[in-house]
Amino acid sequence: SIQRHLSTTPSGSRIERMTVFGAGLMGAGIAQVGAQSGLKVTLSDVTDKALENGLNIISKSLSRVAKKKSPDDIEGFTKKILANIETTTDAGKAVEDTDLVVEAIIESIKVKRDLFGFLDSKAKAECIFATNTSSLSVTEIAESCGKERQERFAGLHFFNPVPAMKLVEIIRTPQTSTSTYESLKEVTLRIGKAPVTCNDTPGFIVNRLLVPYLLESIRMVERGDATPEDIDTAMELGAGYPMGPFKLLDFVGLDTTTYIAQGWRGKAASGQISKELVEPIELLDKLVKEGKLGRKSGQGFYEYE
Ligand code: CAA
Ligand code: NAD
Repeated sequence: SIQRHLSTTPSGSRIERMTVFGAGLMGAGIAQVGAQSGLKVTLSDVTDKALENGLNIISKSLSRVAKKKSPDDIEGFTKKILANIETTTDAGKAVEDTDLVVEAIIESIKVKRDLFGFLDSKAKAECIFATNTSSLSVTEIAESCGKERQERFAGLHFFNPVPAMKLVEIIRTPQTSTSTYESLKEVTLRIGKAPVTCNDTPGFIVNRLLVPYLLESIRMVERGDATPEDIDTAMELGAGYPMGPFKLLDFVGLDTTTYIAQGWRGKAASGQISKELVEPIELLDKLVKEGKLGRKSGQGFYEYE
């Protein structure tokens, strides 16, 4: 049946175990929603401190979810979901028996390729590899793996905050097999998200449209056209956006936004994206240099407690 076809990996077995790399904003959220849907999740990062940070993000978010879903037993609800999550700093061990890898580490093509190249020899042949990259070429990341794995490789792009945002973009490369794509669609639905599909192009759908808007809002402030506060108010009340661009920039992370623009500058040379969209912005670079990365570091365009 269609149901049966949709719920199988290329080897014919359902995805039950997921390994998430990167315990930051995104990796923590992805691990959480996987665990909430009953997957056995391994969360991996390079340090124990980063894993602790990830578990903190998950616990806070789970208590929010529990208040709605299980108001009488918040602790029991949280405990039950956390029991589906293991953590480790040992990347090889993390993929030993997993069905799906979702990578959500730093937005650097080199670091991502190094990780996947290593994992290719450690994970079982049927395991599907997916990257949560915002802006890099999924095809170029996949090329760090052997030919067979490239058929089991795709983009699986979640949105921040993962527990609240309903969308997942599934990115097919020319090598991604149909059964890999179907498995990813099925697992996306299983964790309660709505899938859309896009070719492997800079920024896919959402970021291709959203990031130029965010960057232009910073240029408006640099030009002295309006303040961040007024631009936020304008877009919230005048365009109905839930957050104005500066709140959103702080939410996404100014470092991540900078990596996206930097990565795209390379693509501009080959004509895949127009050059004016991704010109460097002094104000953005200055904040990042000062360690003002947005909410996650306590300060960006705004200050946070
Ligand atoms: N964990 C669990 N639940 C959360 C949550 C979290 N971290 N954050 C929000 N929620 C839930 C709330 O509990 C609430 O649920 P109910 O409606 O069921 O009560 C719901 O989400 C709305 O939250 P709030 O009422 O607290 O606040 P809000 O209405 O202001 O919404 C928001 C918060 C969802 C973050 C909203 O401000 C928003 O949509 N902002 C824009 C976010 C956005 O554009 N994200 C995309 C960024 S780009 C990206 O991610 C791609 C990339 O590659 C860079
Ligand atoms: P983050 O800075 O919050 O977290 C990144 C984590 O990756 C850190 O904990 C870091 O220690 C870890 N890490 C770095 N190198 C690693 C390695 N080799 N192995 C394991 N862990 C490693 O970043 P984030 O915002 O969660 O972004 C992660 C990825 O998700 C990026 O590719 C980003 O472009 C993408 N993304 C971000 C957003 C967003 O709104 N922030 C939305 C969608 C997609």
